[in-house]
Amino acid sequence: MTALDDLKAKYLTAVADAGDEAALEAVRLEALGKKGEISLKMRELGGMSPEERSTFGAALNVVKDEIDAALRAKKVALGDAALDARLRTEWLDVTLPARPRPVGTIHPVSQVTEELTAIFADMGFAVAEGPQVESDWYNFDALNIPPEHPARQEHDTFFMNRADGDDRPPHVLRTHTSPVQIRAMLDQGAPIRIICPGRVYRMDMDQTHSPMFHQVEGLVIGKDISMANLKWVLEEFFTAFFGKPVKTRFRASHFPFTEPSAEVDIQCSWVDGQLRIGEGDGWMEVLGSGIVHPKVLRAAGVDPDEWQGFAFGMGIDRMAMLKYGIPDLRAFFESDLRWLRHYGFAALNVPELAGGVA
Ligand code: DAH
Repeated sequence: MTALDDLKAKYLTAVADAGDEAALEAVRLEALGKKGEISLKMRELGGMSPEERSTFGAALNVVKDEIDAALRAKKVALGDAALDARLRTEWLDVTLPARPRPVGTIHPVSQVTEELTAIFADMGFAVAEGPQVESDWYNFDALNIPPEHPARQEHDTFFMNRADGDDRPPHVLRTHTSPVQIRAMLDQGAPIRIICPGRVYRMDMDQTHSPMFHQVEGLVIGKDISMANLKWVLEEFFTAFFGKPVKTRFRASHFPFTEPSAEVDIQCSWVDGQLRIGEGDGWMEVLGSGIVHPKVLRAAGVDPDEWQGFAFGMGIDRMAMLKYGIPDLRAFFESDLRWLRHYGFAALNVPELAGGVA
């Protein structure tokens, strides 16, 4: 039995002396591992007489269990000590103020959409939305663009495929935000005062055109709405948007959905190759507009003998380019991080009229 007592004393001391988890594991292998001393002793039991085996075996098991228990207890103690040591070195002062970490930027299109929404909201306009995949009725017919009308070709429309054998006219990717006028009137009737910002699609691509771009539609229907109201609203908008008085010039034009129709220019000048909005005697075309055609009102369930109003459509991307001096439209949609960091806006810099959206 003294041999076993020695064995036990040897390993309990080794366990007590183990300074870290690796040393403890080495002790465990040496004692209880497959080729450990205790395990080898267990194997010796096979060669003993039955009486010897039962006394020696029982005693050996007790020793084994004691060593095992000591190993486990020490492992827990070492783990606690390691955690304590870590907690002593890795501490955090939770009373320090947080340091803001920038996560991306706001895209100029989002920024300008927010800005113009804020400005029109201040004039009592609500925001209306419609689908980007649109039926040809909303995109064309209801806007007084019948199938044979040349404007259908001019729009370079993307058509959606119908299933084989379905010969209804195909849906289209909306070519302008004007169909939202129809949806909003059918939905809410008159009077109405809305803007509809959103994506539109045309098969066109160069420095100033992208197959997907953004427009904002405006629509006001009431009892005595005239071109004068339109001019006031637009000048009010441009002045708030550019942060200084901006004159507008109306030129007679033609759109199927308005009568009369006008293209609107804003005052600008070029100084040393730099564009200045609201200065000088140059003009730049920025939108289409007019008095909503009676056929359009009728298609949208509004009685043209009772109601009338104006509509306009303007490119949002173009507004962003003009306001923030961005030269190439295609870069808007290339997701180049350097471009986004340069032209993007800080996430917490939310535009609002009181703070000056300009
Ligand atoms: N839908 C026209 C376009 O995409 C823009 C437009 C012109 C909208 C005149 C209007 C409008 O509401 O009255 O080119």
